Amino acid sequence: MMIDKVAKLTIDDKPSIDLPIHEATYGPELIDVAALGKHNFFTYDPGFISTASCKSAITYIDGDKGILLHRGYPIDQLAKKTDFLTTAYLLLKGELPNSTQQQDFKKTITSHVSPPAIIEQTLQGFAKGAHPMAMLISLLGALAGYYHPIKIRDAAERKQAIEQLIGYMPTLVAMTYQHYLGNKINTPREGLDYASQFMYLLFDDTRANNPTLNKAIDRILILHADHEQNASTSTVRLAGSTLANPYACIAAGTAALWGTAHGGANEAVIKMLTEIKDEKNIEEYIARAKDPNSNFRLMGFGHRVYKNYDPRATVMKQTCDEVLNELGTPDDPLFRIAMQLEKIALEDEYFIQRKLYPNVDFYSGIILRAIGIPTALFTSIFALARTVGWLAQWSEMLDDNDFKIGRPRQWYTGPTERDI
Ligand code: SDX
Repeated sequence: MMIDKVAKLTIDDKPSIDLPIHEATYGPELIDVAALGKHNFFTYDPGFISTASCKSAITYIDGDKGILLHRGYPIDQLAKKTDFLTTAYLLLKGELPNSTQQQDFKKTITSHVSPPAIIEQTLQGFAKGAHPMAMLISLLGALAGYYHPIKIRDAAERKQAIEQLIGYMPTLVAMTYQHYLGNKINTPREGLDYASQFMYLLFDDTRANNPTLNKAIDRILILHADHEQNASTSTVRLAGSTLANPYACIAAGTAALWGTAHGGANEAVIKMLTEIKDEKNIEEYIARAKDPNSNFRLMGFGHRVYKNYDPRATVMKQTCDEVLNELGTPDDPLFRIAMQLEKIALEDEYFIQRKLYPNVDFYSGIILRAIGIPTALFTSIFALARTVGWLAQWSEMLDDNDFKIGRPRQWYTGPTERDI
């Protein structure tokens, strides 16, 4: 909201430039620098440390207090009192559904459980053991080819694309899992809820009927659903700002999520904990993480916004306890190493000074691994959940009065003009 406050930018003896200031519901006031270009100045902020790329009403993170709100509701309440599709409805529509709306939404989403048969042929282009994220990106691309063109300004067509993408994702991820293992995918079973159907498509055995495990998967999906303008969401917004096919935009977001600095960290955490192997090796890894000459980082630690405990990690750790007790492995060695690693790191000046805490990825992998999901599939499960947030943010962008194609400027450091 524009308030009658301006920032006055004075440079040399030039007349000062008035920059309007906007007030947010929560968070810092915002200096609107759009007019600077007219005064022949750009701003420079690599990584967008202090730059808001858009307005949004979907999610708010208070990094200092470790608070995460979805449409005003705290994440721990959503994780404990709702399920993933209820949270998805909230993210997409702005309010929690009443019982009829919830029933209709769930029925619609779970009806889109089988993507077009032709999509499976895309998998044949991948060798067994290819990374599931590479396959997922291609399956989404194949769906963009199948559903094109989509009139994204038409409410009905946009709604259909959103519902199909959310509905198809568990099956797409399960297809990549089965192809990764060289198996055939199970045929979806009627009448299962979203998380149970996903578990059934992965394991058609007792695990799929275990309410504790299904609840844990559903909670993991809630915890990963949306998170303001993180790298992959910003990628979806930028791709969407060119009016690209929504399936292609989600493929772009999936590609951005894959990096170990972002959604790929959950897979990297398990690799790191497995490599540490024994609590007696923890100090060595902490030393490596602190060594300015080493590019080793403690996977699952640190965050661009959270300078306090990631509230999702708190819920994830509790869920870890529940799952390991349910599976009869309360002393899972990786869980023990993770808790000891957290304890030591949080007492160490290096981590305290830099406000590095466990993030959402630190405990999630231990749960998924305990259930029997291969580490290679972890980030795909993150993408499955984040598809809801990506779509909510993409749709919000298209409806924003300030909508325009994203086209950042640059600090040119190349050669001056010259002849060949
Ligand atoms: C996700 O943005 C989101 O919201 C993402 C996410 C979401 O839901 O979408 O929350 C999901 O991506 C969680 C983050 C998962 N990534 C990891 O766990 C990988 C390990 N973490 C780091 O790579 C790092 O903390 C980042 C990438 C997450 C954040 O990096 P920043 O904000 O750019 O911080 P930085 O690199 O400038 O680090 C500041 C200092 C540096 O030390 P100094 O140069 O000041 O001496 O902290 C150090 C860094 O070396 N540091 C770490 C560290 N993270 C930062 N040192 C050791 N181990 C770490 N993990």
